[in-house]
Amino acid sequence: MESSIRNARIEDVPRLRAIERAACELFRAMPDVYQRYVAHPTPEASLTKGIDAETLWVIETAERVAGFLLGFPVDGAFHIDELDVDPLFGRRGLGTKLVEHACEYARGRRYPSCTLVTMTSVRWNAPWYRTLGFRELTWDELTPTLRTMRAKEIERGLDRERVVMLREL
Ligand SMILES: CC(C)(COP(=O)(O)OP(=O)(O)OC[C@H]1O[C@@H](n2cnc3c(N)ncnc32)[C@H](O)[C@@H]1OP(=O)(O)O)[C@@H](O)C(=O)NCCC(=O)NCCS
Repeated sequence: MESSIRNARIEDVPRLRAIERAACELFRAMPDVYQRYVAHPTPEASLTKGIDAETLWVIETAERVAGFLLGFPVDGAFHIDELDVDPLFGRRGLGTKLVEHACEYARGRRYPSCTLVTMTSVRWNAPWYRTLGFRELTWDELTPTLRTMRAKEIERGLDRERVVMLREL
């Protein structure tokens, strides 16, 4: 599908929130995951921080903004913090393009790797990231901030069925 990626702007924020809400619908059949996702949207402050840092990107089709990726540095790696594609535009390669864009950005800035956390309860997520070159990290391999992030998620009641993944750049 024809699409282009650009830095997000502040006026995109309402659309990004709507995309995230729409993407939650993919988890409808998994009530636990669905409720946690709906209850914990990406904070607006994180989106504005990403806009300021120029590490929040949107992907646009001829129709409209269809997805976004937010990243920031964590312990020397570039961490993909949030990735959502509106299901109306899903499975047409937009998510892959956003991940490749973030990796290209990170490579250009000499980050050695990209990291992310994904849910193993969503059966297709980790396998999809594997096809994009990510591998799962063990607890022993996690850097201090990634460990703290995981521990905080567990404290907040988010599922333990999560895995940290890394792609060497
Ligand atoms: C994950 C996500 C960003 C992928 O976006 P996308 O534009 O559909 O990505 P692509 O088209 O590049 O690749 C989609 C691949 O993901 C997997 N996938 C996505 N949705 C799926 C579904 N409902 N069932 C099975 N596999 C699915 C498949 O491997 C698919 O490839 P295929 O269509 O060739 O089988 C999107 O599904 C989404 O927003 N999900 C909800 C939020 C989320 O899980 N974010 C990531 C958390 S780490």
